[in-house]
Amino acid sequence: MAPLTSRRDFLINSSKTGLGLYIGSSLLSSYSTARVLSDKDDTGFQQTPLPYAYDALTEAIDAMTMEIHYTKHAAAYASNLQAAAKKENIDTSKPLEDVLRNVSKYSTTVRNNGGGHYNHELFWKSMTPKADQKPSGKLAAAIDQGFGSFDAFKTQFSDAGKNRFGSGWAWLIVDADKKLRIGSTPNQDNPLMDISDIKGFPLLGLDVWEHAYYLRYQNKRPDYIANWWKVVNWKFIEDRFQAAGA
Ligand SMILES: [Fe+2]
Repeated sequence: MAPLTSRRDFLINSSKTGLGLYIGSSLLSSYSTARVLSDKDDTGFQQTPLPYAYDALTEAIDAMTMEIHYTKHAAAYASNLQAAAKKENIDTSKPLEDVLRNVSKYSTTVRNNGGGHYNHELFWKSMTPKADQKPSGKLAAAIDQGFGSFDAFKTQFSDAGKNRFGSGWAWLIVDADKKLRIGSTPNQDNPLMDISDIKGFPLLGLDVWEHAYYLRYQNKRPDYIANWWKVVNWKFIEDRFQAAGA
């Protein structure tokens, strides 16, 4: 099997030469190492700016929660990750995804903070004040096919979030067979990780840690989830679905 860097270079070069993004080929014996994002979509080790104001998503999330979540919780994951990367000689010029796909080789600090940073970077982008309320095009069709209907999908995804005991995330992923799947992970794990029970490329992740909702919703996690659907950035999720080649 070719080393990861060779596969990565192939996929990057394929993308640049117009061959498109490529997963699930015989060259990629394991989905867990597949590269599906373009260079510009790689996750770095630094926080990127929040794509909207703290009070932009008040239909679902209050401004104080957003500010504390972004400037304290998520910022801590990023800075702890950078410190751990330095200590463990991780090349931070490469995508964080490469580390997460092989996270079993690193410390628990990298697992927790690398996951925490990646998950939050995805979470901010997967919300918008100009939400379409539902997906369209190929993603909408795949959701209908995979789950019966958009409403059935929402119920199943919401249940994954509600039933995650303690802290964690609910996910919509594209798995190795290019099928949509719903699942959840504990703590700051995610489906990119080689240690995860559910593996694949994350399209959409919902933070169900109490820090994401407690100020407004207290113990009512289901109410937070019900309102969160109002701000999901389906355009962004559709772009990721397309990048996954499903
Ligand atoms: Fe969070």
